[in-house]
Amino acid sequence: MQERAIEAGMAANDQEAGPRGSLTFRFRGRTVALDRFAPRTTLLDWLREEAGAKGTKEGCGEGDCGACTVVLSRLQPDGGLSYEPVNACILLLGQVDGTEVLTVEDLAEGQRLHPVQQAMVDHHGSQCGFCTPGIVMSLFALYHQREPATYQGVCDALAGNLCRCTGYRPIIDAALATCDGRPADRFAAATAERAAALAALADGRDLFVGDDHAFFAAPASEASLAALYARFPRAALIGGATDVGLWITKRLRDLREIIWLGRVAGLDAIEAGTDALRIGARATLQRAAPHLAALHPDLGELMRRFGSRQVRESGTVGGNIANGSPIGDLAPALIALGARVELKRGGATRVLPLEDFFVAYGKQDRGAGEYVSAVVAPRLAADEAYRAFKVAKRIDEDISAVMGAFRFTLEGRQIAAARVAYGGMAATPKRAANAESALVGARLDDQASWTAALDALKRDYAPITDMRATAAYRAEVAANLLKKALIEVAGGAAPTRIGDVLAAL
Ligand SMILES: Cc1cc2nc3c(=O)[nH]c(=O)nc-3n(C[C@H](O)[C@H](O)[C@H](O)COP(=O)(O)OP(=O)(O)OC[C@H]3O[C@@H](n4cnc5c(N)ncnc54)[C@H](O)[C@@H]3O)c2cc1C
Ligand code: FES
Ligand code: FES
Repeated sequence: MQERAIEAGMAANDQEAGPRGSLTFRFRGRTVALDRFAPRTTLLDWLREEAGAKGTKEGCGEGDCGACTVVLSRLQPDGGLSYEPVNACILLLGQVDGTEVLTVEDLAEGQRLHPVQQAMVDHHGSQCGFCTPGIVMSLFALYHQREPATYQGVCDALAGNLCRCTGYRPIIDAALATCDGRPADRFAAATAERAAALAALADGRDLFVGDDHAFFAAPASEASLAALYARFPRAALIGGATDVGLWITKRLRDLREIIWLGRVAGLDAIEAGTDALRIGARATLQRAAPHLAALHPDLGELMRRFGSRQVRESGTVGGNIANGSPIGDLAPALIALGARVELKRGGATRVLPLEDFFVAYGKQDRGAGEYVSAVVAPRLAADEAYRAFKVAKRIDEDISAVMGAFRFTLEGRQIAAARVAYGGMAATPKRAANAESALVGARLDDQASWTAALDALKRDYAPITDMRATAAYRAEVAANLLKKALIEVAGGAAPTRIGDVLAAL
């Protein structure tokens, strides 16, 4: 409610003032305004090369190692502040508009270390120290969480921080010793002043830094976005830039026209209705996660393992769909549910079944000037069962080799209809039409009646061999995942999850 009120106030200002020509954010207790920077500049480049903040390290430059982790504080609808760990190496500088940027240099007060830093010393959590600033910033974000950290919670918070020499036990001990859900540092004590400083930046105006040849723009409304995208249809749209950031750091692309969706009012709305969940395209993966988990626990586990906390804090649901990746996680999971994608261009809206959005490798059904505005997933009915499984080389922070998702509509112990979708098995996320037909009439209590569907997968997919998996492995895993889903839905007693297997040892 308060957020809406702020936005309404912003809109009024907006009409009077026109676009703002400088990026504004808080850094080291003051407001920074930048009216000139290359649109492709990353936050890490700015920190290290312009601000001299060399405590933030660069390791991989692609969002994997967490050495560059910094924390963004953002004003929340309740007047509080969020603490979002992000990878500065792939976050574009323009994306910090309206936030407070906190780096490892900010934490200590003179010679007095921050509690998480002191705990890292006390528990011997650092050896060579290269990963330590990033780990400290991930723990700093965890320290500001409102619940006491659990062992699993600490592991999840550190999944995006690689330490090669210390080993994680002392780091986890440091986290458990300090992150008790009662933040009592000077940042917590100064919440009101810091929130007021951020509120003063929240002008609700469009942002446009640069000129017609090279710009970083952040429209504040869908109307502004439509107008801007119509004017610059070749501009790169970015949600969280967890993909696009790598185009810059790894493919060295000199992106000159960038439209960031992160300030478009309403495009991050999540509506949890009784029949369906509607997620606005720019909602972050982190915010969407509990809503997806409420649809089905397998989606909760999928989101827990999606990238890392840093990737989920910046990456968006819309970006995960729009990138058209054949190994993206949400597409197959949502296709099996029966989700639809909503696309907008100007005032026109188009809605299509999510599977129809993916036309061919690298090609989606999205016209010039059109953008993904939302994805809508139906809730499961009482007679529907759902399963989603991600298979990757590592449990944490790894892209799927194969991702399988299944929805069965049941009539008693018989399957009346099925939706089966996989990632990693074709050039796009794709339904298994032959297996779906073969499942109709199959009986949960008769494994022989599943065979035709398991065999049909061979006609549905011709997977490839690449660095993640061989074609043969993918084909075998795909069939095993369908079988596992059927065994679980049938109510088999044999453990099918790693956790259950470990518990049984
Ligand atoms: C370390 C790491 C781990 C990762 N792990 C996973 C993982 O476990 N599972 C997984 O699926 N992915 C993973 N990813 C990939 C990526 O994080 C996700 O796909 C993420 O959801 C992309 O969202 P984004 O907002 O950052 O996209 P961006 O990088 O901003 O954009 C991606 C593409 O989508 C376009 N785009 C973005 N939003 C829109 C929109 N609303 N309308 C039209 N076009 C749009 C952009 O122009 C671009 O082409 C990982 C990435 C990294 C770096
Ligand atoms: S440098 Fe490795 S995640 Fe940024
Ligand atoms: S302390 Fe050396 S990499 Fe972690």
